[in-house]
Amino acid sequence: VTPATWRLDTGEALELLARLPSDSVDGVITDPPYSSGGQFRGDRAQSTVSKYVHSGQQSTPDRPEFSGDTRDQRGYHFWCALWLSECLRIAKPGAPIAVFTDWRQLPTTSDVLQAGGWLWRGVVPWSKTQGARPQMGRFRAQCEYVVWGSKGPLPQRTDVGTLPGFFEISVTNEGAREHIAAKPIAIMEEIARIVPPGGVILDPFAGSGSTALGALKCGRSFIGFELDPAIAERARQRIGGPLFAPAPDRPE
Ligand SMILES: C[S@@+](CC[C@H](N)C(=O)[O-])C[C@H]1O[C@@H](n2cnc3c(N)ncnc32)[C@H](O)[C@@H]1O
Repeated sequence: VTPATWRLDTGEALELLARLPSDSVDGVITDPPYSSGGQFRGDRAQSTVSKYVHSGQQSTPDRPEFSGDTRDQRGYHFWCALWLSECLRIAKPGAPIAVFTDWRQLPTTSDVLQAGGWLWRGVVPWSKTQGARPQMGRFRAQCEYVVWGSKGPLPQRTDVGTLPGFFEISVTNEGAREHIAAKPIAIMEEIARIVPPGGVILDPFAGSGSTALGALKCGRSFIGFELDPAIAERARQRIGGPLFAPAPDRPE
């Protein structure tokens, strides 16, 4: 078995995606900026800290602001279609894709996935459990969503097992939250399993590198991009650090 490898380049996703060869990755797993956190232009243009860090939590230099989160709805739609169609070109036929989104951008995300040429196959909710902030008189916003699909027909594979249609994983148990929007490594590892063992996973919006860690833990390789040099450098240190201990073998 070839050991899993990883590479995280600093730069603008569309520019770096254009340099990757066609039909070269086995899956795309990504968590793009949501351009969410509000209904109006003024709301969206607020800092990512004020949109995504709840009262009581502080932003520190350790968890900096991140870019690309202020597009209006039409701009967001067009932009997503651009990078999703580049990802389609780079993915091998039959490769799966999984894109994180929140409730506001869920309808747009299934639209843009298809605008990018992907076959939309479903939505897997991720419950952040009861730890998510409760609000009096309304339903708790405790879920984000993974919109998934494939590049054309999904081949029947015996090396990819059955995967859950719902995740229940707390963010507060994650220990070091490296990035305002960091995803738990545990969920990234579960999602990575949609890609065949030994395959290469592409994430154009790597942030703190959670997709890479999830991929490496279950023996998939990783290639990713991150626009912000400081975030990218921290991610490289995190991926190369002690969190990268391959998980014990488990049947696919
Ligand atoms: C939602 S965060 C990803 C968080 C990541 N899943 C994690 O667990 O840390 C999106 C990331 O995309 C980066 N980004 C925004 N626009 C970008 C672009 N055009 N090209 C590359 N990266 C970009 C942001 O700096 C941010 O770190």
